[in-house]
Amino acid sequence: MQINYDKFSIQLESDQGKYEIIEFLRQKKFEFTRKDEKRILLRLRYQARKMGYRNFKELLNCLKSDPQTSESVFQWLEKGRAYHEEDRSFVPLIRQKKTLKDYVTEAPIKPKKKKKKIVILPLEFESNLDLPADNKNLSLIFDFLSAKKINYQAYKLNHFLRRLHARMKRVSKNTYKGYHNLLQTSSDEFKLLMDNFSINVTRFFRDKELFLSLERDVIPQISLGKKNPIRIWSAGCAVGPEPYSIAILLNELKMKNTFKNPYILATDINQGLLQQAMKGVYSDKSLEEVDKLKILKYFQHVNDSDLYQLLPRIRNMVTFKQHDLRNPPPGRDFDLILCRNVLIYFSRAQSEIFFKQFHAALKSKGYLVLGRCEVLPQSIKQKFEIIDTKNRIYKKKE
Ligand SMILES: C[S@@+](CC[C@H](N)C(=O)[O-])C[C@H]1O[C@@H](n2cnc3c(N)ncnc32)[C@H](O)[C@@H]1O
Repeated sequence: MQINYDKFSIQLESDQGKYEIIEFLRQKKFEFTRKDEKRILLRLRYQARKMGYRNFKELLNCLKSDPQTSESVFQWLEKGRAYHEEDRSFVPLIRQKKTLKDYVTEAPIKPKKKKKKIVILPLEFESNLDLPADNKNLSLIFDFLSAKKINYQAYKLNHFLRRLHARMKRVSKNTYKGYHNLLQTSSDEFKLLMDNFSINVTRFFRDKELFLSLERDVIPQISLGKKNPIRIWSAGCAVGPEPYSIAILLNELKMKNTFKNPYILATDINQGLLQQAMKGVYSDKSLEEVDKLKILKYFQHVNDSDLYQLLPRIRNMVTFKQHDLRNPPPGRDFDLILCRNVLIYFSRAQSEIFFKQFHAALKSKGYLVLGRCEVLPQSIKQKFEIIDTKNRIYKKKE
């Protein structure tokens, strides 16, 4: 079986921001020697390249603005080991001081005896993932998914393995073979594995600044001289806060003529999430970035709980539909497409296909919004004008 892994070059366009990123790690209380800085930059360079950044500065902006990504990059850095001549052993390359215990010097980690095993993964993936002992049997899982017509190669291999291992741990299977047996006999487990590939963290007005920019600049621009209802697509909407935030925003703008019957389409691959979205019930945690006044105006507190339900008149503004982004777009002539924090899990080749589809589904001069850690690939860039680099807002050229 041929596996088409993404091959990542570890060259960046420039090393801009390398001192700042080292300084940032020190501010975050990471400890490392001067000698190891080079090694750390090497690992970060690989990480930056993998995430599609051109230099360290762009990676640093992402680490500062997205706690989830920075946490996983930090964890990955902490797994790095360096061989120290003096100790004649491997020691962590970098370590974060967290508790008093972390200040106590630990015994050096003994190098593991090399076991003879067939390695089928590229080296860069081995370094930060614990693979089951029977890693050669991973092909059983790949073959199973291929037979089910699941295009697993669309996902980044690291993301794919992380989610697969999480599921295996959940059902106490520590070999691929054992998990493969379970998949063959349990259709429920297959469904759970599929759901597990998609991470669905979301919240209302996620990245407040972006929503300010939409309210202040983008939506008024779209509505200039517009006769037809505005058409918006939230792709990968999870349980709904993103399209509902847009609905609230349109309601706040109260441009009655323009926003009569706006069309807000919200899609996700996961039907369970969409069903939850339609109910419109959220915990106060999802509302952390919403102004108190808006909560009072648009939500109803569910008795004796920390839950809030969005008012039906806002819920009715959004049409939810199951859709896999790997299929053709569910509509066209959109004025605005938001696809945030979805593409980061996909390979570069697959993301390029998505971007081409978004481009085709947008009206001329329509807007595309990505997540804070997502960038337009070079191949697509010339088809869009950059409107707001920080908030990742792009406009389709005429
Ligand atoms: C992290 S959430 C993003 C939610 C929202 N866009 C936000 O930024 O707050 C990612 C969503 O992408 C969805 N997703 C993953 N793969 C998908 C695919 N192939 N097609 C459509 N949606 C997908 C997941 O189900 C999940 O709900």
